[in-house]
Amino acid sequence: MTVRADTLVLFGATGDLSQRMLLPSLAALHADGLLPDDLNIVGTARSDMSDTEFRNLARAALEKHLPADRRGPLADFLNCLHYQTLDVTTPENYADLAEKVGKDRQVAIFLSTAPSLFKPTIEGLAAHGLAGENTRICLEKPLGTDLASSREINDAVASAFSEDRIFRIDHYLGKETVQNLIALRFANMLFEPLWNARLIEHVQITVAETVGLESRVDFYDDAGALRDMVQNHMLQLLALFAMEPPTHFDASAVRDEKVKVLRALRKISPGESVTGQYRGGASVGEIVPGYDEELGRDSDTETFVALKAHIDNWRWHGTPFYLRTGKRMQRRVTEIVVQFREIPHSIFPGAKVKPNHMVIGIQPEENITLSVMAKVPGIEQEGIALREVPLNIAMPDAFSGKEKRIAYERLLLDLVKGDQTLFVRRDEVEAQWSWIDSIRATWGEEDLKPKTYAAGSWGPSAAIALIERDGASWHE
Ligand code: BG6
Repeated sequence: MTVRADTLVLFGATGDLSQRMLLPSLAALHADGLLPDDLNIVGTARSDMSDTEFRNLARAALEKHLPADRRGPLADFLNCLHYQTLDVTTPENYADLAEKVGKDRQVAIFLSTAPSLFKPTIEGLAAHGLAGENTRICLEKPLGTDLASSREINDAVASAFSEDRIFRIDHYLGKETVQNLIALRFANMLFEPLWNARLIEHVQITVAETVGLESRVDFYDDAGALRDMVQNHMLQLLALFAMEPPTHFDASAVRDEKVKVLRALRKISPGESVTGQYRGGASVGEIVPGYDEELGRDSDTETFVALKAHIDNWRWHGTPFYLRTGKRMQRRVTEIVVQFREIPHSIFPGAKVKPNHMVIGIQPEENITLSVMAKVPGIEQEGIALREVPLNIAMPDAFSGKEKRIAYERLLLDLVKGDQTLFVRRDEVEAQWSWIDSIRATWGEEDLKPKTYAAGSWGPSAAIALIERDGASWHE
């Protein structure tokens, strides 16, 4: 679908995601002249509110969450906003929404409500002519808690919307640095010939956060790190890293290649995963409580997970992918480390030749560093001395003057334009869930319980052992 939307309906418009991300992203796009002039934005939520009250709420959110230099003339943007009170479980309410939207509009609907409300919402929309060919729908995570529940959600959405009108968000795909992974691989001759098991010894993907539970007590305790971070963001990073070259940069070609990787993930064996839960400690200079203290009860939910994954295909046979993510880690970092193999034969007796590695920094630092061996300047009597030196590209320096955008800016714009390339297709989500379910089943069989780790550390020592057993170590 390539028809541009002229109406954007935000469900959950007064909620946290809307205030922190969606409204600021829309305002920033508007300030840069990137939104269609005639775009009408209708917010809906349960609270009774007038257009003016909603605009006031939006103004306060923008003043809090959007830097002043990105806001543009706020009044112009706020004038695009409208509001409709709507209880998604009350069918009659949808008639009011349909009237507010108007006839013959091209509509994009964004559901940032609890997934338990998706089904009644979709039924309400369908019953009031808001799910026709001229309507597309965008869904926020979590899309289920396992394969079965994710299928239920997907079936409910599919009962009213065809797949080419369903946009599933993984906000990591909206990050510039994640898209840059595609550019790095497929706009350079340099890397692709090296991108295989013959030359790459292993790959590490780390998504470390310093935050703890935040205010999401119940949600997080039901989810845990595996379902909250690995099922979606980390598997998308892995798929983009490992996929075969798509023939085009379009929705079908890119997603066809990603899903092949996700389906090729081997079931994890016992001993290939470690889980952890943080205890009190010092995190970024502050004393913080343990997870159980924040929660106010004991729990077996993991706030850290490390996995040794394998992709069973020709390209990656023999190259493990070590994944780890955790809350309350030593520092916030998302990066991919590519560890190349040793040179086959050294002509430098007595000198240690270290295998090359490349670090692709995704956040907070956006840089690419390739370690190379070089001669240490000087005149040696015997042979030459070698040392590892970095070849460093810092993205912000290379592109100074380019503003840093919120990931949702790109995604909201693509939703309005109707481009699905950076959205997740049903078969991808289901392949992701079936691998995650198999890991959880293994944990159940092994009766695996999270090991404790101090807040502000790099996770339990067992995670270090997981990779060191193979003669490697985490990049820190
Ligand atoms: C969300 C998770 O999807 O991603 C959060 O639910 C996590 O637990 C967040 O903190 C991380 O996103 P980012 O963009 O800050 O890396």
